Amino acid sequence: MRIVLLGPPGAGKGTQAERIVAARAVPHISTGDILRANVREGTELGATAKRYMDAGELVPDDVIVGMVGGRLDEPDAVSGFLLDGFPRTVPQARALEELVDGRGTPIDVVLRMVVDRDELVGRLTGRRTCGECGRVFHVEHRPPATEGACDDCGGALVQRDDDRDDVVVNRLEVYRTQTEPLERFYWERGLLRDVQATGTVDEVTDRALAALAAHDPGPAS
Ligand code: AP5
Repeated sequence: MRIVLLGPPGAGKGTQAERIVAARAVPHISTGDILRANVREGTELGATAKRYMDAGELVPDDVIVGMVGGRLDEPDAVSGFLLDGFPRTVPQARALEELVDGRGTPIDVVLRMVVDRDELVGRLTGRRTCGECGRVFHVEHRPPATEGACDDCGGALVQRDDDRDDVVVNRLEVYRTQTEPLERFYWERGLLRDVQATGTVDEVTDRALAALAAHDPGPAS
């Protein structure tokens, strides 16, 4: 199955993606994670991307489209994938459409994760991420067993540079102006399915998997 996860910063895309890919046996392709890995490794792409990410702005479309095109060429993505954080602009969506339709493997479904703005701000500013393995926690909703340390690897938990209050406000505005138009883009193509993304993480997962099962029973049914 080829799935796009659409939703504002803090909607829980990364959190749900981990669970959906386990249920659906497809790779998780997160443009944010790929960019952050490049920043950590000090690549040229990472250096370019960091300037935009730290300001809460989008990395230019040509950079992102080239990066995702390369990732979709890898063997594990041939029979399906879950895209998290891509596309994020109409030109990115058109480029993706061209790529997958050209291969005869169109997108099956776009899950739009719906959360109120006030809740988003609290989720983002309270998020803590393991600097070693990338696992995501929240100071209130998903605290680690030991304060400041990752449950999985013991690495130090840090706040993402773009989760500072001022940057969060800009990211939400960038989403409204540049990414929300994709809702219409995919609605017009009959691909958009809403998932209410408030409540517990388990409740949201159940709704997301139900939305996918309504489209295609798949291995999770
Ligand atoms: P990216 O990493 O994609 O960030 P984002 O879309 O802003 O999404 P987040 O990772 O902030 O949130 P999420 O929805 O994954 O939420 P999470 O599950 O962590 O992009 C970062 C930057 O990279 C962009 O700003 C841009 O610069 C660049 N970029 C990336 N892709 C790009 C593209 N295509 N084009 C151009 N630039 C691009 O959850 C958030 C918190 O809430 C966590 O603490 C979690 O524990 C908690 N939480 C999750 N679910 C629940 C729940 N049900 N109840 C309570 N708390 C919850």
